[in-house]
Amino acid sequence: MADQSFNITDNRTGKSYTLPVHDGTIRAMDLRPIKADPEEFGTMTYDPAFLNTASCRSAITYIDGDRGILRYRGYPIEELAEKCSFMEVAYLLLNGELPTQIELDQWITEIKSHTMIHETTKHFLQGFRYNAHPMTMFISTVAALSSVYPECKHVLDPTIRRREIVRLIAKVPTIAAYCYRHQLGYPYVYPDNDLSYAENFMNMLWRMAEPKFLANPVLARALDILFILHADHEQNCSTNVMRCVGSSQADPYVSLSAAAAALSGPLHGGANEEVLRMLDEIGTVDNVKPYVDKVKSGHTKLMGFGHRVYKNYDPRARIIKWTANQVFEVTGRNRKIDVALALEKIALEDEYFVKRKLYPNVDFYSGIIYEAMGFEPSIFTVLFAIPRTVGWLAQWQEMITDPEQKISRPRQLYIGHAERHVPTLAERSVPATAIAMS
Ligand code: CMC
Repeated sequence: MADQSFNITDNRTGKSYTLPVHDGTIRAMDLRPIKADPEEFGTMTYDPAFLNTASCRSAITYIDGDRGILRYRGYPIEELAEKCSFMEVAYLLLNGELPTQIELDQWITEIKSHTMIHETTKHFLQGFRYNAHPMTMFISTVAALSSVYPECKHVLDPTIRRREIVRLIAKVPTIAAYCYRHQLGYPYVYPDNDLSYAENFMNMLWRMAEPKFLANPVLARALDILFILHADHEQNCSTNVMRCVGSSQADPYVSLSAAAAALSGPLHGGANEEVLRMLDEIGTVDNVKPYVDKVKSGHTKLMGFGHRVYKNYDPRARIIKWTANQVFEVTGRNRKIDVALALEKIALEDEYFVKRKLYPNVDFYSGIIYEAMGFEPSIFTVLFAIPRTVGWLAQWQEMITDPEQKISRPRQLYIGHAERHVPTLAERSVPATAIAMS
């Protein structure tokens, strides 16, 4: 609401300042004129890890972390997961509205006409060692696509931007599947455009000698739902990287590769792989309590728990739990679910977790489903990156077309030496640490 303001009195000078408040927010630049001395730089905000800083205005994804709400373009995630396909949700995130039947058909045809990757990219992939981590291969290969489509540098051209968005959404499943098969030593499988987005991905992953791969429809739908749940999550670490790198007008391939690199960390998308590792380490329900005690004593973290924004329950985790049961009807129960449920129960009742508002997040159950479907843990984070590509691109497009945005460049509080002068080699004393180590 306009016409709201704060009055701030600088107790160093006694001067008062009126700062406009819009959307419950003050502009950091409005603090700059507040100075104790005219020669000073002016007041800044200090916010390591962006705990309380809005970096953009966005109309894409809404999260209310205290109430466990997630909406894409206003639509609740629960309704989208129940009623839409991933292709519809991708269209929604990028264009702001759900497609009509005609628009959806055109969109799917457009995506399908870009699913192949250039043969040189295939050869590039073949250069990786047999045991290369699929996420590392994914990150590098997405960046390498920038060399295949040099026109992608013209990021201010909307026609080119749109073509690169379509190419990236179409090609990431192909790259991901090739990364997976490379690790297993299997020949790469070309896309089959008769199939849906998720079915085709499963075809490229798992087709062997059969003339046509037909995915189990329950598993294909489960994967499609998982893609919907992972498609966007407003200004998370990797999306912030996408916007930050993109703000220098770097091309979308290298920007997206940087975002995927951020996603690969164990505190972000890499958590799904870590959850499986943790459940393996715990092994049986009997070991859950001692493991929780280890977490409480600060020796380790409960992977798949906690979130910067959700302080109630991650709504995606609830849908994933439901999806897991559908998958288990087909694949049989993954015994790790029993350990996960026991872990969740103990943690949700324990004061340590209650006090810190730590709840299962999207990664807690996703790995268990992926494993039941036949995925190796090393591909889990790549499975996150495929749908998040849509969110990264929607956010990138919004950033590029936002007249308020500029190259991203935070300030710092310098805490190093004041000016000093370079001594000669002979004048330099041996540092105390070097003496202690000798
Ligand atoms: N296990 C045990 N303690 C935890 C955990 C956890 N998973 N997460 C947070 N805490 C504790 C933390 O030690 C701190 O305790 P204290 O106040 O005593 O110092 C308190 O809870 C607050 O944590 P924080 O580190 O300030 O929270 P954050 O917002 O900076 O971190 C997080 C969020 C997701 C990085 C963190 O909860 C975490 O590391 N979780 C495990 C990794 C994980 O599952 N990541 C996936 C996130 S969801 C998918 C995605 O979007 O990437």
